[in-house]
Amino acid sequence: MLTRSFLVALFGGLTVVAAHPLAERDQASLKPSSPVSNVKGLSFNRFVDIWLENVDFTTAAMDPSLSKLAEKGLLLNNYWAITHPSEPNYCASAGGDDFGMDNDEVNKVPANVSTIADLFDTKKIAWGEYMEGMPSTGFQEEKYPETGADNYVRKHNPLVLFNSVVDDKKRLSQIKNFDSFYDDLHNQKLPQYMFITPNMTNDGHDTDITFAGSWTNKFLSDLMENEYFMKDTLVLLTFDESGNYTNVNRVYSFLVGGALPDHLKGKKDDTFYTHYSVIASLSANWGLPSLGRWDCGANLLSFLAEKTGYVNWDVDTSNAYLNETHPGPLSVGEYSEYTPIWPAPLTSDDIKCSAGNGILDIVKETWKDTKPTYNYTAPLPYDSKSGNNVGIKYSRTLANGDVEHGETQ
Ligand SMILES: *[C@@H]1O[C@H](CO)[C@@H](O)[C@H](O)[C@H]1NC(C)=O
Ligand SMILES: *[C@@H]1O[C@H](CO)[C@@H](O)[C@H](O)[C@H]1NC(C)=O
Ligand SMILES: *[C@@H]1O[C@H](CO)[C@@H](O)[C@H](O)[C@H]1NC(C)=O
Ligand SMILES: *[C@@H]1O[C@H](CO)[C@@H](O)[C@H](O)[C@H]1NC(C)=O
Ligand SMILES: *[C@@H]1O[C@H](CO)[C@@H](O)[C@H](O)[C@H]1NC(C)=O
Repeated sequence: MLTRSFLVALFGGLTVVAAHPLAERDQASLKPSSPVSNVKGLSFNRFVDIWLENVDFTTAAMDPSLSKLAEKGLLLNNYWAITHPSEPNYCASAGGDDFGMDNDEVNKVPANVSTIADLFDTKKIAWGEYMEGMPSTGFQEEKYPETGADNYVRKHNPLVLFNSVVDDKKRLSQIKNFDSFYDDLHNQKLPQYMFITPNMTNDGHDTDITFAGSWTNKFLSDLMENEYFMKDTLVLLTFDESGNYTNVNRVYSFLVGGALPDHLKGKKDDTFYTHYSVIASLSANWGLPSLGRWDCGANLLSFLAEKTGYVNWDVDTSNAYLNETHPGPLSVGEYSEYTPIWPAPLTSDDIKCSAGNGILDIVKETWKDTKPTYNYTAPLPYDSKSGNNVGIKYSRTLANGDVEHGETQ
């Protein structure tokens, strides 16, 4: 039987059938690729997403290296991770859901689940990931090195968790080591979207906020002087999750870059954001559709929302923790009584997502015979069945003065 991994490439309608599925031998010989594109966005032409590890908002806010950087940009004062531990947050940033993941295992999301790579493909927007310490392009193992202090870990690599990405050699070749970042910078071949994961030392996982803050400062300071890097660019510095699981999962986050409107520099933004807001904002910026998952109802970056006319929700976070996962196919914990089906996304043409461009065609086609598993049009993830994140109220005032109210229930 032919599986998706056997069909590795399509050239002008000609299907090339490989003799073997991707073997380790192939992985090791995979050359990094650096596609480029220049698709104009409403607010930015390049987005750089950098994640540090496991610190509460209030703890990170006291770090002088980070606060000095934040003063040069816009502090996102109300940005939330979506659960614990690490991996589901990275997963969410690429797939619009955590699929019930409550662990850091070698999780694989089936090929019928779309990601931001599919969104970018609709307009040929080049993307890449730069993973510090990853030993080879497209490396898929759990960690490297196998023993001793962790340098690279798969659980911090968003797109490698998805079969729709790793089954495709071209996509895999865009998941690269950090050295490629400096090559691409030097050759002016950086993509328009990139995700940067520092190693386990530099991101604070195995060190602390002082170490991670100082790494960030060193990494960003030079880049902020680099015209090629900064022009029309938005850099988001954030954390995968908070450090204390029983505290709120609000994480210290700021935007810097040439694309940030001048009047917002040195300011703070109280809009409620989650990791899903990034996907929604990428869609709104470049006119891309939605994955039909939690990106659909997520708030947009405020200055982008102003441009599109979308009105963000005000979320009453007084009861919110966002520190737990709803049950799903990747749950290994307490949720065994639930049927682990792969959650179905929104597919209807009538759905208005925050980005305003409907649902991705391949999502509509693949999932057309299913009913959406969750109310993905809400501004934050919740599950009525398990009671996860329920009882959170939100409201907004539309341009015509109408007030809308909602509640996760
Ligand atoms: C956890 O909470 C304590 C007490 O509020 C705080 O001192 C500590 O920095 C927090 N840890 C992290 C990693 O954020
Ligand atoms: C992480 O990267 C730094 C260089 O940026 C290096 O000095 C350090 O050894 C790396 N950590 C590990 C555990 O390999
Ligand atoms: C989430 O936070 C609440 C409130 O502190 C706490 O009762 C609960 O145990 C936390 N959940 C996890 C998984 O830590
Ligand atoms: C998606 O893939 C999963 C895992 O293979 C399968 O259980 C599910 O039925 C598929 N759903 C659709 C709509 O293709
Ligand atoms: C889903 O969320 C939207 C947006 O918040 C809300 O208007 C709607 O009532 C919710 N639907 C259900 C079934 O809860």
